[in-house]
Amino acid sequence: MAPVCVLVGAMGAGKSTVGEALADALGVGFRDTDADVEATAGKPIPEIFFDDGEEHFRALEHAAVIAALESFDGVLALGGGAILAEKTRAALAGHTVVFLSVGLSEAVKRVGFGAGRPLLAVNPRATLRHLLEQRLPLYTEVATLTVPTDDRTPEDVVTEIRAHLRH
Ligand code: S3P
Repeated sequence: MAPVCVLVGAMGAGKSTVGEALADALGVGFRDTDADVEATAGKPIPEIFFDDGEEHFRALEHAAVIAALESFDGVLALGGGAILAEKTRAALAGHTVVFLSVGLSEAVKRVGFGAGRPLLAVNPRATLRHLLEQRLPLYTEVATLTVPTDDRTPEDVVTEIRAHLRH
């Protein structure tokens, strides 16, 4: 079993919005590794970062990605930083992975003040700029398709992904 499509990309790329719309269009389920991590930890992501640290969060996140890749056949969205781990990138090999790319201005608009996203607690714009730059090569490395999302509707993005899935 494997997800029909794995979505990667930065915070604000639209992974949840596009993922839910894509899953609806395909008639399959939607799953988000952030929610899986929260369920395992029994608390929201900001509390995991605060109580246990980012390293612990990343370990839970890796385990959540591996479990979902092995047991889920719908549309799977990964947290924005999941691809930081080399072993997570390796596990994505052979899967259909769509990178939703987003520019800095659009990402800043979409995340607002970063509520619920501990990495953006201080200076969201500068942090996002840094994360987008640092992670771009990693998203590209794992992606079988890159779809820009700036100035596009979720429906438009879904249509492009569906065309890719048919190939
Ligand atoms: C993170 C992105 C978040 C969440 C956590 C860390 C990151 O997921 O996993 O706050 O490192 O980019 P979303 O991309 O779904 O917001």
